[in-house]
Amino acid sequence: MKPFAGADHAIRIEVLDDAEAVGRRACDLVCETLSAPSSVLGLATGGTVEPLYAALITRHRAGGVSFAHASSFNLDEYVGLSPDHPASYRATMRRLLFDHVDIDAARTFLPHGAAADLDAEATAYEAAIRAAGGIDLQLLGIGSNGHIGFNEPGSPLASRTRVVALTEETRTANSRFFGPGETVPTEAITMGIATILEARRILMLATGTAKAEAIAAALHGPVGDACPASALQLHGAVTVLADRAAAARLG
Ligand code: GLP
Repeated sequence: MKPFAGADHAIRIEVLDDAEAVGRRACDLVCETLSAPSSVLGLATGGTVEPLYAALITRHRAGGVSFAHASSFNLDEYVGLSPDHPASYRATMRRLLFDHVDIDAARTFLPHGAAADLDAEATAYEAAIRAAGGIDLQLLGIGSNGHIGFNEPGSPLASRTRVVALTEETRTANSRFFGPGETVPTEAITMGIATILEARRILMLATGTAKAEAIAAALHGPVGDACPASALQLHGAVTVLADRAAAARLG
């Protein structure tokens, strides 16, 4: 285990009944951020955040929240998938959120996984986040191996937006989002751990027993690159919403 220096464990943990309750509570917290005159959201994909996006759409339709003054930056995108590939995170975000709320599509950013020069794309993505004034609230899920974004175990604390190789565990877990016979990409472009830690606030969601071990390692284990989510212990303004199943090992 390579330690990260200076862990201070300033993490607020809320345990809720189930995934729907996690989604509703997360919706309240995201709406607080959206109530500012302008806001920059850091968005995530994955099954865990789907109840949150459904709750945000319901709230928006009821007149309870507007995205008109928001910008968004997603954590990551698969390398090699064009934005109109149904499993791309761009298409996923359109389907789950963007097409159903009043966010300005021109201010929704994801890395371009099909860019010709991916290193230049990564640098430009970091610059775009900075130009927007940084991220106010970064949403995160967690992989069963402790990954955040697509920062797999071994990702350095100082990592920034870059191309990464996906582990077999992650590719297998995410194969459910691809059609039969389709291959899950082997690489992705992801915000780095240092990029994520620059967000002013972080909201991590975890649901289901498959996440129990990863959440326990992230919140109570040693801070180190074996569990990328353990880097959250260094941040100071993190809220974790977990359902009972995911919180089972928190003790
Ligand atoms: C993906 C995403 C992560 C996400 C994780 C968990 O690999 N890149 O941002 O947190 O998987 O996904 P799920 O919520 O589907 O379990």
